[in-house]
Amino acid sequence: MKDKNNREIKHIRFSITSKCNFKCIYCDQEGFTPKTSELAVEEITKLCKILAEILKVTRIKFTGGEPLCREEIVQIIRNVADLNLYKDISLTTNGYYLYEMAEELFNAGLNRINVSLSSLKPEVYKRIYGLDSLGKVLKGLKKTKQIGFNPIKLNFVILKGINDNELENMIEFCAINGFVLQLIELHKVSDALGGNGEFYEKYHYDVKPLIEEFESKAVKTIIRGNMQNRKVFIMPNSAVVETISPSHDFCMGCTKLRVGCDGNLFGCLYRSDLGKNIKEVLRNHYSLSKYESIVKEVVDSREPYY
Ligand code: 5AD
Repeated sequence: MKDKNNREIKHIRFSITSKCNFKCIYCDQEGFTPKTSELAVEEITKLCKILAEILKVTRIKFTGGEPLCREEIVQIIRNVADLNLYKDISLTTNGYYLYEMAEELFNAGLNRINVSLSSLKPEVYKRIYGLDSLGKVLKGLKKTKQIGFNPIKLNFVILKGINDNELENMIEFCAINGFVLQLIELHKVSDALGGNGEFYEKYHYDVKPLIEEFESKAVKTIIRGNMQNRKVFIMPNSAVVETISPSHDFCMGCTKLRVGCDGNLFGCLYRSDLGKNIKEVLRNHYSLSKYESIVKEVVDSREPYY
């Protein structure tokens, strides 16, 4: 299904809980404040099946809050894997529970993991995430690698004066360990959630000059057309660095549909207010055409934010 700007929906980003054990200083809350309660496991599975059928998508990423704070996370992954409709099931996590859970998640059918890691210094890590748990997360990462997850991506949100001096070290860390570094530019939090104007002004770090530097140094550059035209650089030390920097190009290459944990279907991180809640429809066992019309309405409402 394509939107008015000819952007086809190719993947789903599905929040399964708003609960989180971290207090990240930059948190965007995935663009929503739940208006009703969390979808039940059966509702999540059913919605994943319906979205795959309607949109022919084969990629899905689970997020939160913190998805590993949802007690039934393993069951959810297993149910979605058992649908045999998704080729790529991934998860974005703060990594706190990875050491305990990575193996179970892998066996349930999870393919890939992204871990938030914006610092390798314990005090800076604590400042960013609100928790003194760098050691625990690194232990979890090691386990995740041993189990065989591939690729493992690290989300590094660069913040002026906080962790901008760690980029080189992070690239080296990724090269040594075979992780992919996602260099993420801080974005504003949606106005619907109160924005983060002051914080943004203070800590926003312009990634453009870094991208130019990577461009000149990289041995190879790849553009992920289906993923917001993100640039991926293969560096001389074999590190893989993906850059995520909001712009018009970024939005024009966006092929994502989002689901909030309470069943709000929406097309843009900044416009969760344009979403449609699908929870009642899920409860009332409507036919596929009812879902199709809601999905179409949401897809039609998508417009580039930048
Ligand atoms: N700016 C950039 N990235 C953010 N994330 C959350 N809030 C922001 C923000 N304001 C990203 C982090 C985290 C993922 C779930 O969302 O990279 O790992």
